[in-house]
Amino acid sequence: MDGLLDLIRLFLIIYLSPMIANGTPVVYSRFYKGTPIDGGKYWRDGRRILGDGKTFEGSLSAFIAGGLTAGLLGLVSNGFETVFITGVVATIGGITGDIIESFFKRRLGYERGAMLPLADQLDFYLGATLFVLVCGRCLHPSLYVFLFGLIVIPVLHYGTNYIAYKLGLKSVPW
Ligand code: CTP
Ligand code: MG
Repeated sequence: MDGLLDLIRLFLIIYLSPMIANGTPVVYSRFYKGTPIDGGKYWRDGRRILGDGKTFEGSLSAFIAGGLTAGLLGLVSNGFETVFITGVVATIGGITGDIIESFFKRRLGYERGAMLPLADQLDFYLGATLFVLVCGRCLHPSLYVFLFGLIVIPVLHYGTNYIAYKLGLKSVPW
């Protein structure tokens, strides 16, 4: 039991910030339509580079939310610096992973907001994982922590998106 609690604790320390960050633009974008990162430009396949779903303001809102979460986690744990840096790096990795996913989604011909199962849920998770793994000053997930998230994240993602859809924050339940 101790092992499971430790696992969940490390999971939250690393991934809670990018999880909160990932959800923030969904809420934020209901009230403010941001500036597309790709500047409205098209790739050579005739499709948008990233699409209107990736904006500067949305990314910034995610960064702030993730950073605040990392700061709070740092304050309630012993060793502020490592926990804070881990959360911030994971947040940046998460935002990056989400943007990269949109790039490949467009290349595969999926419109902005179209569903691409697992990739939609795990883009930010894989980005966050990669970033903390290459960060020398960050906490690293064990294989079990990583696998735990691989299962839990899609379930949580679907659950929260469904709630956001029911609340009218999202137009589709994914
Ligand atoms: N969003 C944003 N900037 C980001 C990420 C998200 O503005 N960097 C906002 C957009 O309004 C987006 C919403 O948050 O529509 C939900 O994000 P996401 O599900 O990642 O985007 P999708 O609309 O599904 O677009 P895509 O198909 O490119 O994933
Ligand atoms: Mg999406």
